[in-house]
Amino acid sequence: MCGIIGVALRRGNAAAEVYDGLERLEYRGYDSAGMSVKTDGGTVTVKRGGRVANLKDSAAGLSGNVATGHTRWATHGEPSDKNAHPHVAGKFSIVHNGIIENYRELKEERLKGGAEFVSDTDSEVIVRLLNKDYSGDLLAAGAATVKRLKGSYALGILCEDFDGIIAVKYKSPVVVGFGEKGIALCSDIPALPEWVSAVCVPEDGDIVSISAQSASFYDGELQPANRVRRPIFAGQFNCGRGDYPHYMLKEIHETERTVRDTCDAFFRNVDVKRLTDYVRNADRIILTGCGTAYNAGLVAKRFFSDRCGVFCQVEIASELRYSPVHITGSTLVLAISQSGETADTVEAVSSLKEAGAHVVAVTNCGYSAITRVAHLTVPVCAGAEVCVAATKSYIGQLAALYLISNLTSDIFAARKKLLEVGGKVGELLKGCGSADKIAKECAQSSAVFFLGRGADYAVAVEASLKLKEISYIFSDGYPAGELKHGTLALIDENTLSVIIICDESLAEKCENAVSQVASRKGKVAVITSLEVVAEKLKDTAAVWKIPECSAQLSPFVSAVALQMVAYKTAVSLGRDPDKPRNLAKSVTVE
Ligand code: G6P
Repeated sequence: MCGIIGVALRRGNAAAEVYDGLERLEYRGYDSAGMSVKTDGGTVTVKRGGRVANLKDSAAGLSGNVATGHTRWATHGEPSDKNAHPHVAGKFSIVHNGIIENYRELKEERLKGGAEFVSDTDSEVIVRLLNKDYSGDLLAAGAATVKRLKGSYALGILCEDFDGIIAVKYKSPVVVGFGEKGIALCSDIPALPEWVSAVCVPEDGDIVSISAQSASFYDGELQPANRVRRPIFAGQFNCGRGDYPHYMLKEIHETERTVRDTCDAFFRNVDVKRLTDYVRNADRIILTGCGTAYNAGLVAKRFFSDRCGVFCQVEIASELRYSPVHITGSTLVLAISQSGETADTVEAVSSLKEAGAHVVAVTNCGYSAITRVAHLTVPVCAGAEVCVAATKSYIGQLAALYLISNLTSDIFAARKKLLEVGGKVGELLKGCGSADKIAKECAQSSAVFFLGRGADYAVAVEASLKLKEISYIFSDGYPAGELKHGTLALIDENTLSVIIICDESLAEKCENAVSQVASRKGKVAVITSLEVVAEKLKDTAAVWKIPECSAQLSPFVSAVALQMVAYKTAVSLGRDPDKPRNLAKSVTVE
């Protein structure tokens, strides 16, 4: 949801570093890209609508030791050259991630003051305010400007009078990285330059003055602030997509490794004793997240109901704040988020924490906002996930949640089962011929309905999200039993229903759904782990028999099968599965 980057170098060309960083950050938005570089002849800004690659030629001609850059996910103002960042006025250039909620009022005020606006963005008010507030003291101008802003912002500011960058953070993410070549700022740790070997995470309200030699942190009152510097190895994240045509395919193939690493990290890094106390004493468990993370909660709810004997509910984080939930000092909230930065999730769990709940973050990103809110963090070890559509991180979330749900029973047996099911995913990915067949049906359908019961229903919801987000085909995930209460009216020969059947105890009822669709001339596909079901339905539907596994853990395998179906559908329709239109990886605005 917009990515910002900046570097101040002791040696090397900052323009090239920023351009490379923008390519790594592109998953945060690809509506436009731009950069400002401090060159010998003053600050030069280039920006273009569309993908980062559109900037390549202009960036190649630039050189300087300080630069900032931006990839945009448009909120205010259409994707275009003029709305691209950096926004420039007077001595300043700014890149912004976030939303300025009171921008209309501030714009009105600046217009009355004689300023001329050249974009339709909310961000432009920031650069106009800086010009008004600046009279030689850069930090004072920064502090005065941000005091006027309502909303969220991570900013990278260049000023003609300073050979460095001013970074500001409030609610939107930004980290400051240190390394042999100099100092960098970036929205996400995985997109930092490879030479970065340590990071500091500013707190909300911080203003940071960055030069090639040092970074000084101040709080909102401009008092020096001490922020912990932690070692990292940025190189580990920047691993590219190897021989795979898309990140999505590469990341699906990293599922088994993700399950293994998530299990290892659980026993190595988690305060298991404290977490067990939270689970054992919980009067209710609330799972929350957005998008795919929420869908992981739908599956995991069944783990907790089965293992913990405690009331468990799943809530969409963006709705949670408006839902009447009962919180006590024993309520356990599991906050699920790949990025750890999703604004709705962070806000929702912050308010539940304030109300007295124990908050545990289940996240792929250490040092992220959600880890700072949570009492405890359980890592998901998917590694950098670049494709906008979540794949391996979803399965990693399931693994982490399964382990948590087994803390009060036999955790080592749970670990063994997870490693086994990881192996089944590996087995599945060795032969995906049926995915081609089902993908072909999807691509030729006007709508695709995913149906299931129990855990299979939870998988159906995620399968539907995956297909619609990367193929742009209308789809819905629906409980198979509800088919006859509405969706059946939409079934005709142009629609496909994909029915997931991995729970033997529910198989016959799901087979009814197959008959109901087929008798209305709807096309049917079946994903099943059950040999008997595959055999029975092979003449009625396109069947993918996936490796056998327990009904409870079958989502690990069936969901990956359906990720492959979505991937192949998108590719066959010529869509870019890694960067679906209008979407972004990390949604840091509410
Ligand atoms: C966006 C991404 C999804 C992700 C969701 C929640 O919509 O495109 O892939 O599932 O945000 O993100 P989070 O980082 O909180 O898991």
